[in-house]
Amino acid sequence: MEILKADAAAIAKAADIIRSGGLVAMPTETVYGLAADATNGQAVARVFEAKRRPRFNPLIVHVPDVASARKLGVFSKEAEQLANAFWPGPLTLVLQCHPDAGISELVSAGLPTLALRVPAHPVGQALLQAAATPIAAPSANRSGRISPTTAAHAAADLKGSIDLVLDAGACEVGIESTVIDCSEQSQSPPILLRPGGISAEWIEGVLGVRLQSTQAKPDAPRSPGQLSSHYAPRARVRLNVVAPEPGEALLAFGPQIPPHCGPMINLSETRNLREAAANLFAALRALDAEGCRSIAVLPIPGQGLGEAINDRLLRAAAPRP
Ligand code: TXA
Ligand code: MG
Repeated sequence: MEILKADAAAIAKAADIIRSGGLVAMPTETVYGLAADATNGQAVARVFEAKRRPRFNPLIVHVPDVASARKLGVFSKEAEQLANAFWPGPLTLVLQCHPDAGISELVSAGLPTLALRVPAHPVGQALLQAAATPIAAPSANRSGRISPTTAAHAAADLKGSIDLVLDAGACEVGIESTVIDCSEQSQSPPILLRPGGISAEWIEGVLGVRLQSTQAKPDAPRSPGQLSSHYAPRARVRLNVVAPEPGEALLAFGPQIPPHCGPMINLSETRNLREAAANLFAALRALDAEGCRSIAVLPIPGQGLGEAINDRLLRAAAPRP
C-alpha cells in the first residue's frame, strides 16, 4: 500500500487503480472513503473484505454531479429540492434504484434502493471525473470502528488490504454525511436515517416540512448501518458508571473522579461538551489499547453536543454482532 500526496499524478494513478478493480482511500469533505468501482462486483466484494463489514450493510455510491446521479436513482420531488440545495456537499440521498443502473448488487446489499452522494472535496471530485465510473465508498475504517478524518487513520485501519491512500490532509467537516431516505414518493416527508454534516433544521428549511425520524418506525430497519454496534472498542463499555470496578479503564468527565485504580482519560475536566466531543474517539482508542476487559464511562449530560456523544457511546456499548 502506498500513501501519496493527492496531486494530479496521484489522482490519475488512483483512477487507474479503481478502473482496474483496486481499492483507494480517498478524501471527501466529511471523512475518508474506501473507494471502489461500483459497477465491478469483485472490487465491491474487496471493500467488504477490507472493512470486514457485514454484507447486509449497504454502501454509498459517489458521483460527480446531479446528472450522473439521475442515471442511477429515481428522484422524487423532495430529492430534487435537496440535491439542488446541498449537492455537492455532505448529504446522501436514498432513492429507488434504476433497474438499468449497472451498479453491482453487492453495493445495496439486496435492497431495491441506492444511497447516492455528490461530494464537494476537490480531490474527491477530481477522482470521480478521472475514474469516470460511479464509486462505492464507505468510510475508510474497519467496520464498527471510528471513522477516519486523516490519511494516517485510514492507512492504520486498512493497510495490507488496499492499494493506495490519497493524502489531502484533514477532512473539513469531520463527521459523516447526513443520510435522507426519499425512496418512496408516497412516504412524504422524507426520513432522517443518519444525522451528519448537514443539520436536520437546514434540510427542513429547504423542504418546508419536518423530517420523519427513524424512531417513528421502529419496525422498519431502513438504514441497517444505524442499527448495529458502531464505534466499538475491543473492550466492553459500561455507561453511566458511579463506581468503577478494580482493573477497569475509566473514561471520566468533569472534576470529580470516583476512587479508581487503572488507566484513566478525562474527556473534559471543566465539563466542556465541545472539548469532550473532540476527545471522544481518540480517548476510546487509547483506553482500548491498554488492554483492559472493560471501559467504565462516567455519566455525561445529554443536552447540546452531549446528545451526539451519548449516541456514539450507546453504540460503542451496544451488543456486538
Ligand atoms: O460521509 C459519508 O457518508 C462517508 C463518505 C466516505 O462519503 N461515507 C460513509 O459511508 O459514512 P458508510 O458506509 O460508513 O455509511 C453509509 C450509511 C450506512 O448507515 C448505511 O446503512 C446507509 O448509509 N445506507 C447505504 N445504502 C442505503 C440504502 N440503500 N438504504 C438505507 N441506508 C443505506
Ligand atoms: Mg462508516
